[in-house]
Amino acid sequence: MGNSLKIEEFFLNYKKNTLFIITDKNIYEIYENYLKERFKEFKFHLIVIEPGEQSKTLTVYEKTINELMKKEMKKTDLIIAFGGGVVGDLAGFIAGTIFRGVRFVNIPTTLLSMCDSSIGGKTGIDLTYGKNLLGVYKQPEFVLIDTRYLETLKREEYESAMAEVIKVGLIKSKELIDYLLEEKIDNLKMIQMAVKIKKEIVEEDPYEENKRMLLNFGHTFGHAIESYHNYEIKHGYSVAKGMDLAIKYGIKINKTNKEVEVVLNKLYKKFKLEKFTGDSNKYLSKIKYDKKNKDDDLNFVVIAELGRAKIIKIKEEDLNDLSS
Ligand SMILES: NC(=O)c1ccc[n+]([C@@H]2O[C@H](COP(=O)([O-])OP(=O)(O)OC[C@H]3O[C@@H](n4cnc5c(N)ncnc54)[C@H](O)[C@@H]3O)[C@@H](O)[C@H]2O)c1
Repeated sequence: MGNSLKIEEFFLNYKKNTLFIITDKNIYEIYENYLKERFKEFKFHLIVIEPGEQSKTLTVYEKTINELMKKEMKKTDLIIAFGGGVVGDLAGFIAGTIFRGVRFVNIPTTLLSMCDSSIGGKTGIDLTYGKNLLGVYKQPEFVLIDTRYLETLKREEYESAMAEVIKVGLIKSKELIDYLLEEKIDNLKMIQMAVKIKKEIVEEDPYEENKRMLLNFGHTFGHAIESYHNYEIKHGYSVAKGMDLAIKYGIKINKTNKEVEVVLNKLYKKFKLEKFTGDSNKYLSKIKYDKKNKDDDLNFVVIAELGRAKIIKIKEEDLNDLSS
C-alpha cells in the first residue's frame, strides 16, 4: 500500500507535463483500453513500435525519437516503457539519450523483463555486428511489476524466461532453487526472489567489471547456439541448453558438484525446458566472437554448488566434445 501511494504521488508530479508511453503492437492490442483508463488523468501519448527484436535498431530508434519530437516532447516530460525487454531496452536507451537524458519508468510485462531486463539499468539496441552493442546505463525512476500482465503472455515466453530465473538461483540462491522445486509456485514470490538476487549483483558491480559476469552463466554456449541458429531459437531456450553444457563441463573438470545436474534435471522437467542434445562442437566457432583476441582466455562461469558460482579462465579447446 505504501509503495502504491508513493507511485501515485510520483505520477502526480507529472500532471502538468506529458507522459510518453512506449509499447509494442501486440501489447497495445491487448492493453490499449487499460492504458487509456490507467493514465486518463494525464496528458499522454502512446507510441507503438513493432514487436520483436527487429525493433531494437537504429532505424526504429530514430523513428521513435522523431515521433517524440513531433509530439513536442520536453526534457521535463516522462517516458514510460510498457512492455517486455525489447520495449524496455529501446525506451530506456531513448530516455538515456534524448535531451541527454529524461526520466523514465519501466513497467515490464513479460516474465523475462520482470525478473531480468528491467533490473540493472542496461539499455540499448542491436547493430548489424551483434546484439546490444549500442546503449547506455540508464536507471529508471522505478520498476513497476504487476504479475497480472503475465496472464496474457504466450506459453513459450513464460517457459523460456524460466531459464533465466533458474540461472539466478543456480548462481546465487539455493533458497530460490529450493522454492522452484516446491509443488506450487507463486509468480510474485518467485519474481521478488529473482529480482533481489539480480539487484544485489548489479549493485555490487554496476558496470560489469567482475561479479555481474556471473549473470552470463550458461550464456557462452547460449549465445553461440542462438547465433548459430540465426536467433530462431528463443534466447531462454538457448540459455537452458547452455547451462546444461556448462554444468556438464563443470562436472568434467571437477569444479561442479554432481548434485547440481540432478537438480537441473528436475527443474527442466518441471518447467518444460530442454537439455542439450546433439554435437556441441558445431557451436564452438560461434563462441570465438565473445573474445577480444584469439589467444585470450575465455571467462567461463561454472556453478560450484547450488547457489554458488565462480568465474574461471579457460582455453577455447577445453570446451571440445562436451556432449559426447
Ligand atoms: N537490459 C537487460 O539487462 C536485458 C537483459 C536480458 C534481456 N534483455 C533483452 O530483452 C529482450 C527480450 O525481452 P522479452 O523476452 O521480454 O521479449 P519481448 O519484449 O520481445 O516480448 C516477447 C513477446 O511477448 C509480447 N508481450 C509482451 N508482454 C506481453 C503481455 N503481457 N501479454 C502478451 N504478450 C506480451 C511481445 O509483444 C513480444 O511479442 C531482448 O532484446 C534482450 O536483449 C535485456
